[in-house]
Amino acid sequence: RIVYVNGGYRPYAQAAVHVEDRGFQFADAIYEVIEVRNGGLVDAPRHLARLARSLSELAIPAPMSESALRHVIHQVIRRNRVRDGIVYMQVSRGAGPRDFALPSPETPPTLVVLARTQRRGWAAELAETGISVKTTPDNRWARCDIKTVMLLPAVLAKDEARRAGAREAWFVDAAGNVTEGASSNAWIVASNGSLVTHPLDHHILPGVTRATVMDVAKGEGIKIEQRTFTREEVLKAREAFVTSATNIVMPVVKIDGAAIGDGRPGPLARQLRLRFHQVAE
Ligand code: PDD
Repeated sequence: RIVYVNGGYRPYAQAAVHVEDRGFQFADAIYEVIEVRNGGLVDAPRHLARLARSLSELAIPAPMSESALRHVIHQVIRRNRVRDGIVYMQVSRGAGPRDFALPSPETPPTLVVLARTQRRGWAAELAETGISVKTTPDNRWARCDIKTVMLLPAVLAKDEARRAGAREAWFVDAAGNVTEGASSNAWIVASNGSLVTHPLDHHILPGVTRATVMDVAKGEGIKIEQRTFTREEVLKAREAFVTSATNIVMPVVKIDGAAIGDGRPGPLARQLRLRFHQVAE
């Protein structure tokens, strides 16, 4: 495997960043995950726009122009012969002696781009049975709209979920509302048939798949309500699902061990999943 790091394409075993990289010491870094399908990127404009926004919210300088970055991403895909899989990219504020104060703006950011093959169809197969989720208190910070690598709450929540036999964790805020999944956006189909998902604010990531699923739903004439919902409403919902670049639309059939709807993947989740790649750019 070949990785882009420190300005060049290097073999996987030699792909390393400095021990004093701020991503390592302070989680002072942001990232993106993009689906690769038939050798091309899915929803690249939205992912690259969100990358730029994450950088600007944290005042991390852009490591290169967007067109140069696209070139690097395509090189990494090509050099690894990835046809179906994912691209992971991360930008940190760079390396230097440990100091909370921001380094001078001339400090070069660290850019890493990886590509990995994933068997085509794994998510579609999982979607046939759906997944279980476990709720857990949302103990993350108040800027979840920025895609930082500060992922320890998500790592611990997912482990707690896994130990309870669930594949994803759903964060619940102090008011009892489901904010989002540990690495996905959370949706339900309410009893009135509308799609419901948390509104965009600082408490959730503005998911790229979330945005494209909204486009798909509009095209299908499905009503969308961007509002909060509680665990109790999930238990009364017709269906539930999560969206992310890796899962696209993944039905959720159980929450904390209790069945949602009839306990099987719902028709709306299936419809959105089937239409998704016809609409995604
Ligand atoms: N996670 N919310 C959170 C907290 C996420 O980490 C993610 C994505 C999403 C969905 O965003 P998108 O549709 O743009 O992938 C929502 C990625 C896939 C990850 O960390 O692997």
